[in-house]
Amino acid sequence: MSLLGREAGTRSFVIRNGRITRSQKKALEELSDSYLLEEDLTSLNKSTFFQENKDLVLDIGFGSGESLIHLATNFREKNFLGIEVYLSGIGGVLRNAKEENLTNIKIINGDAEDFLTNKLKGIAFSSILCLFPDPWPKKRHHKRRLIKEDFVHTLKTVTKLNGQVMFKSDWQDYFDSAEEIFLKSDSWEEVNEHEYNEEFKKLPQTRFERKAIREGRRINYSVFKRIG
Ligand SMILES: C[S@@+](CC[C@H](N)C(=O)[O-])C[C@H]1O[C@@H](n2cnc3c(N)ncnc32)[C@H](O)[C@@H]1O
Repeated sequence: MSLLGREAGTRSFVIRNGRITRSQKKALEELSDSYLLEEDLTSLNKSTFFQENKDLVLDIGFGSGESLIHLATNFREKNFLGIEVYLSGIGGVLRNAKEENLTNIKIINGDAEDFLTNKLKGIAFSSILCLFPDPWPKKRHHKRRLIKEDFVHTLKTVTKLNGQVMFKSDWQDYFDSAEEIFLKSDSWEEVNEHEYNEEFKKLPQTRFERKAIREGRRINYSVFKRIG
C-alpha cells in the first residue's frame, strides 16, 4: 500500500519527475508562500480564502492551468482552488497568477482523490471542473480513471446542493462511462447548456483540447447538478 492508502496501480497518475523550467522553479521558490496550501490544510487558518462569503470553484488536475488562470482572471469575485500533482504545471500557474495580480486563487500540490476524500472537511464548492482527466485508454488501466463510482460519491460530498460539476473528455468510452456513473446516482442530474454555471460558459480551449481536435477526436462534455 502507498502512503495515500491505495496501490500505485490504481492511482489516476504516475509519479514522474517532469522537467521544470527555470522560470517555473523560480515561481515555486518565490510564490509558494502566497499561493500554495499544504495538503493537510494546516495553513488554512492563515487564509481567509475558504471563509470569505464567495462562490468557491475547484479545478481538478488543472495541468498547465490555462482554464484556471483564465477563470480566476475573469471572475475575480469568486475564489478558485486548483489541485494538481505535477510541480511544473503549478510553477506556471503561480507565475501567471502573480502576473495577473490574482488574489482569488490557491493551489494544492497533491492527489485530488486523496485530498477530497480524506482531507477536505466541511468545505463545498459551487462549481467543479474535471477537464480532460487522463483517459487511461487501455482496458486494464480503466481502474485508474478518476471518474469512477467512489470518486463521484466523494464529489457529492464536496459539491454544494445545486452546485455543478463539469466533465469534459476527448475519449468517447470514458465520457460514456462517466455519464452513466453520474446519472445512475439519485444525487445528480444533467443540466442544459443555458443552465450552466457562468464559468463553464467561458472556458478557453486548452492545449489538450486543441491536440484532440487536431488528431480528429470529438470533444464531449456534460455538466451535472447535485440535486440530493
Ligand atoms: C490530461 S491533463 C488535463 C489538464 C487540464 N485539465 C486541461 O484540460 O488542459 C490531466 C491532468 O490531471 C492531473 N492529475 C491526474 N490525476 C490527478 C490526481 N489524482 N490529482 C490531481 N491531479 C491529477 C495530471 O497531472 C494532468 O496534469
